[in-house]
Amino acid sequence: MVSITVQPGLVIERVLSIEIVRVTERAAVSAARLRGRGDEKAADQAAVDAMRRELNNLPIDGTVMIGEGERDEAPMLFIGETVGNKTGPQVDIAVDPLEGTTLCAKDMPGAIAVMAMAEGGTLLNAPDVYMEKIAIGPGYPQGVVDLDAPADENVRSLAKAKGGKPQDITALILDRPRHADMIAAVRKVGAAVRLITDGDVAGVIHTADPKNTGIDIYMGIGGAPEGVLAAAALRCIGGQMQGRLVLDTDEKRARAAKMGVKDPKQKYSITDMVRGDCIVSATGVTDGSMLRGVRFENDRIYTHTVVMRSITGTVRWIEAEHRQLEKFHLD
Ligand code: FBP
Repeated sequence: MVSITVQPGLVIERVLSIEIVRVTERAAVSAARLRGRGDEKAADQAAVDAMRRELNNLPIDGTVMIGEGERDEAPMLFIGETVGNKTGPQVDIAVDPLEGTTLCAKDMPGAIAVMAMAEGGTLLNAPDVYMEKIAIGPGYPQGVVDLDAPADENVRSLAKAKGGKPQDITALILDRPRHADMIAAVRKVGAAVRLITDGDVAGVIHTADPKNTGIDIYMGIGGAPEGVLAAAALRCIGGQMQGRLVLDTDEKRARAAKMGVKDPKQKYSITDMVRGDCIVSATGVTDGSMLRGVRFENDRIYTHTVVMRSITGTVRWIEAEHRQLEKFHLD
């Protein structure tokens, strides 16, 4: 008789990779009800409430490492809050219940509900500050681009590694005045720039599938929480990413130090930001190039989710038709 030894941790985690889909689905549905209402706060609050409720049903002993902010400024899903029904493994949680609050409020493409769950004690405990970021997809030699290299140099070396010219490269960058020089440098070398108004978690994820997204590289400064979530996604699907917290005031440096950041200038790799096994789920709120938004139809709600797991590299695209509408009406 063949005996199969199952690692307990893996079994729990496999189940959780489906369980967390419910969490982002519920957050997305709640936010989607407020699409286009011009009220960012209300949409975000609805997503937070739904995500927290659903997280607390999970068989986990979770601690929020990346959340809505630090305890005194966020009433819910604050950094350090414990979530789950405490019957399962100790896990670290990163949440962005509504990534792209403005996109949702204006009913523009690309708003998502996203979360990551990682082995306890393995997620970077980042304060809510900015982060410098650079990311590329899988298949390139390690170190082909670097956060500290000039933008044009990164484009040139990426193009060479791709076997082409800078003209073959498209960079995704947040459309912000702070990126004016970077955008000009990328264009000057001959590459294209796709600008996004918000949503750089999805922006980084785009680099993992350049054939379909047309994006070879993400660069620029965005939120640090979004950086850690994006790193978790790339840990699952492959690629390279570097990030550095922007700690440009004494107050920010002190906050970061309180959260365990020893070197304020540290350049983080994916495995520095997410040191252990993780799962990531994202559900579309508004239509985007990666995920379709929530659709409401008579007695049905349709959601579109991607869930990924680092230990196996499995990526599942889940289209769900929800019929238990009374559950969703609670939101
Ligand atoms: P919110 O959902 O919190 O509004 O964040 C959207 C976002 O575009 C992120 O994707 C990005 O990391 C960050 O804002 C950039 O910050 P800023 O708008 O201050 O440039």
